[in-house]
Amino acid sequence: MRISVIGCGYLGAVHAACMAKLGHHVTGIDVDERKVAELSAAVAPFYEPGLEDLLQEVQSTGRLSFTTDMAATAGSDVHFICVGTPQKKGENAADMTYVDAAVRALLPYLSPGQVVVGKSTVPVGTASRLADTIAGAQPDVHLVWNPEFLREGHAVSDTLNPDRFVYGVSDGSEEHPAVAILDEVYDTPLSAGTPRLVSDLATAELVKTAANSFLATKISFINAMAELCEAAGADVTQLADAIGMDDRIGRKFLHAGIGFGGGCLPKDIRAFMARAGELGADQALTFLREVDAINMRRRSRVVELTRELCGGSLLGKRITVLGAAFKPESDDVRDSPALSIAAQLQLQGAVVTVTDPKALANAARRFPELQYVEDTDSAVMNADALLLLTEWQQYRELDPHSLKQSVKELRILDGRNVLDPAKWRAAGWHYRGLGRP
Ligand code: UDX
Repeated sequence: MRISVIGCGYLGAVHAACMAKLGHHVTGIDVDERKVAELSAAVAPFYEPGLEDLLQEVQSTGRLSFTTDMAATAGSDVHFICVGTPQKKGENAADMTYVDAAVRALLPYLSPGQVVVGKSTVPVGTASRLADTIAGAQPDVHLVWNPEFLREGHAVSDTLNPDRFVYGVSDGSEEHPAVAILDEVYDTPLSAGTPRLVSDLATAELVKTAANSFLATKISFINAMAELCEAAGADVTQLADAIGMDDRIGRKFLHAGIGFGGGCLPKDIRAFMARAGELGADQALTFLREVDAINMRRRSRVVELTRELCGGSLLGKRITVLGAAFKPESDDVRDSPALSIAAQLQLQGAVVTVTDPKALANAARRFPELQYVEDTDSAVMNADALLLLTEWQQYRELDPHSLKQSVKELRILDGRNVLDPAKWRAAGWHYRGLGRP
């Protein structure tokens, strides 16, 4: 099929490459000329495992191209909307500017029988509003809301082999003409057994925000338990192992630590609360305010623990922060808890050095006042304390014995509870985890 993908960020660039991998002819459109130039040269504009290899593979087939020219969408059977919906400045609500602009710009190029597919995460009600806009310009074009559930760091495999497809269509019916067209797009994963659900537009939009809210709640639940474990002298990692053995609970997303960040969970739960308020259903989501508060409290807690670890004062202490990305296998620093902690420590008088295998350039743009060192060995040199804040494999594997030669003081705070406390303590380190004795 002929496919256009509008917006080539973390979602769209991966989606475009994966659709070409599935055998379609794909044009990716973005307003950012630098991004288009990089993607056209099969260079990934951000770090995502497997993306660059995939870009090279599919571009050699001639099935994938990128441009800034919206006219290139003309003639596509399916147009995917993959632009961002960031948090509005000074508000909790989502900023719909990019989605609205993308649909408006697409209208002149739509032809009868084509399908517009929304993948961006939007406030419930957006799809039906956009469907009206599209119908006003081109009555024979259908809109489907097909939320994307990919995780950064696993984006390629999540797109090629998702857990499920959700298609929201105006009448919520399997018989809707757009369903068969989208089935053709996803023929390969559907044939491999990926389940697909057809719903109305509002349900499909809500599936995404509900899923992210559930995940955020699960993380904040275990982080609240970590607070209790700290107060009671218990161990949250053992608690999570034990409750996670109950099938109904499950161990996934029960990793207590410095909390969630990134370009999705924090802003999605806030936008969801804002939208519920507009719908007069704000009470239903007041618990998300607590989820958000527990999450933000983790960051201040780490600053306090670091102060304790350093003997009561941060002034002039050399702190090395291991990890800047909001999670491993990503260079994304949007709302990264690690960077936010690093910046707070610096504000409170510590001398902070940050290291990360992939995210330093993005981090330096966000917080130019921090010091960034690429190489771990140099970054830890003469440190008064190490803070492991993003659990990259190379930090999980750090050797407490060989590190002793480099640092000034043997102090480590494990913000992700990924190190073996017994091993570090046996090597002479003052080890602190979160929610562990
Ligand atoms: C998330 C959703 O998982 C995905 O389905 C949706 O499409 C987009 O938002 P992503 O933002 O890539 O994906 O990251 P995710 O793996 O969900 O992690 C989010 C944050 O939670 C990270 O900062 C991670 O470190 C943190 N986290 C995750 C925890 O603190 N504890 C956990 O147990 C799991």
